[in-house]
Amino acid sequence: MRNVVDGLIGEVFALCRENRAGELADYIPELAAVDPDSFSLCIATSDGYVYESGDADTTFTIQSISKPLTYGLALADRGLTAVAEKIDVEPSGEPFNEISLDPVTERPRNPMINAGAIAAASLISGDDPAQRFERLRRCYSRYAGRELTLDDAVYRSEARTGHRNRAIGHMLRSFGIISGDPDAAVDMYFRQCAIGVTCRDLSLMAATLANNGVNPVTHQRALAPELVERVLSVMTTCGMYDAAGDWVTQVGLPAKSGVGGGVLAVLPGQIGIAVYSPRLDAHGNSVRGVQACRELSKRLELHSLNVTRPARWATRPIAAFGGAPSRPRRGPADRDSLEKVGRRARIYELHGDLLFAGTETAVREITDQSGELEAVVVDIRRVDDVSGIAGRMLADLHDDLDRQGCQLALVDPEGLLGHTTSELVPAAGGRVFVDLDAAIEWCEDTLLERHCAGDRLPESITLAEHPLLSALTAEQFDGFAHGLEIRTVNRGETIVRRGDRAAGIFLILAGRVSSTLQGSDGAVHRITTLAPGMTFGEMPMLVDDRFLNDVHADSDVRLAVLPPDRFARLTAEAPGLKVALLEGLAAGAYAQMEAAIRSLAPRGRLG
Ligand code: DON
Repeated sequence: MRNVVDGLIGEVFALCRENRAGELADYIPELAAVDPDSFSLCIATSDGYVYESGDADTTFTIQSISKPLTYGLALADRGLTAVAEKIDVEPSGEPFNEISLDPVTERPRNPMINAGAIAAASLISGDDPAQRFERLRRCYSRYAGRELTLDDAVYRSEARTGHRNRAIGHMLRSFGIISGDPDAAVDMYFRQCAIGVTCRDLSLMAATLANNGVNPVTHQRALAPELVERVLSVMTTCGMYDAAGDWVTQVGLPAKSGVGGGVLAVLPGQIGIAVYSPRLDAHGNSVRGVQACRELSKRLELHSLNVTRPARWATRPIAAFGGAPSRPRRGPADRDSLEKVGRRARIYELHGDLLFAGTETAVREITDQSGELEAVVVDIRRVDDVSGIAGRMLADLHDDLDRQGCQLALVDPEGLLGHTTSELVPAAGGRVFVDLDAAIEWCEDTLLERHCAGDRLPESITLAEHPLLSALTAEQFDGFAHGLEIRTVNRGETIVRRGDRAAGIFLILAGRVSSTLQGSDGAVHRITTLAPGMTFGEMPMLVDDRFLNDVHADSDVRLAVLPPDRFARLTAEAPGLKVALLEGLAAGAYAQMEAAIRSLAPRGRLG
């Protein structure tokens, strides 16, 4: 299912597609035959999801993007020390096909230029050329997660014209960098460059490197972690040849380009990026490929050296409603409805620092679930920081959900989303809350307004309609009513405070009240919200203790109050009435206890 990240990638794709600068590689004749306008941009996540745009399934040859993969396999086959004796790890600043060795070490400066790559190809284990190439082909296939094959036409085309590389091979032999047949090493190199891949394959190969050497789809290991570190290091400093300095400053990702038109880039621990567009610049790098990676790095804030916010994040749905009701005591009709439709709302709790990758996972998961959801709570109380792109992605998510009729409630007490929050939640369609309970209540109200068939709790009732009095006889009711005090309280006023002595039994006739407790952190935590037909104040009366919490008027409230002395006299004056009241209060207390148990119940439903 498309999500906001598709939109972000689509913007970069559309921008770069207009760029037609650069030329096809023609020194390998077969490469001059490809469609110059072919273009694809793919991003693969470390859990194997692939965002695709353009010609994602067009096959082209991997060319020099093969070099880090062969280098990794050579390290696996020979070890870091043995390979270092043959190939250095220093940026050369020269073109990829420079016929040169380092004048001091007499080694190729790095495995990303042709001299180092041919040396690496000569180090792959195997009894004969066919076995060595098959070993390499299978290694590449593990990175891609599917069987890759040789493009024989491109291989033959380069084998026929690759005189410069043959010169490099014999130079390496003359300096003892290659100990065997130099032509065999060069031929292995020509074959590895002619492996056919798609942009999608390349993005999964990049994600395998991002995922510490394990393909995120097949979960097959392509390279050991300690070797991934080495390969990515050399890609960072040498992968883009004599454009490497510009690349590290502008893009900041380990990368490798190929004259077949591919570019592969890696954000370690998070994503793999791949671009395919065969028009090349003077360095032999894809013009649109470089532009697309620059745009993505800037827009998605991917620069790996941007260390102000370490990428810590986790997302998980913590409860489906019905298992995590809000504190307001709901009437039976409301409760029954929420039991039935509660699963149409979900809570997503984000942790740590929200950067592109962590937010992408959350946005994708929420979007995938959104077809069954009418309300979503995104709780960012445990988020430490939000990058600009993450804020934009959450804002786009709100708009996407709103278009589907799904309400988004944000729990953002620190205002981390700042102005984005105000843009995110216009009058309709979404709200920002300071605590999770208020957000859950708002989502419940959204579901109840849409689905509650039964009688919702009324906004006001008469004294005779109050459930506490419903079991009284007419005579008992009259006896009870004359001793009552009718009181109105304005919105925001405090009715009783924590520590106050018993002040009577309060019957709510209109409006809502909330009981709250101030935490050690100074924050005011809501315990419950009561509506018409409910009571409070009975506990201090019955256990002769003080109020444990404050009670505030959330709206203008009308109350009927039975004072403590009047309640005490009932024992002698009207014992039957007192018993009926105590039975009603006990039933109300049980209902509150059951609601509290439900809110603490493990995920899933209570029987
Ligand atoms: O060796 C060659 O010239 C090609 N097989 C590969 C060169 C290449 O991809 C350079 N990278 N941009």
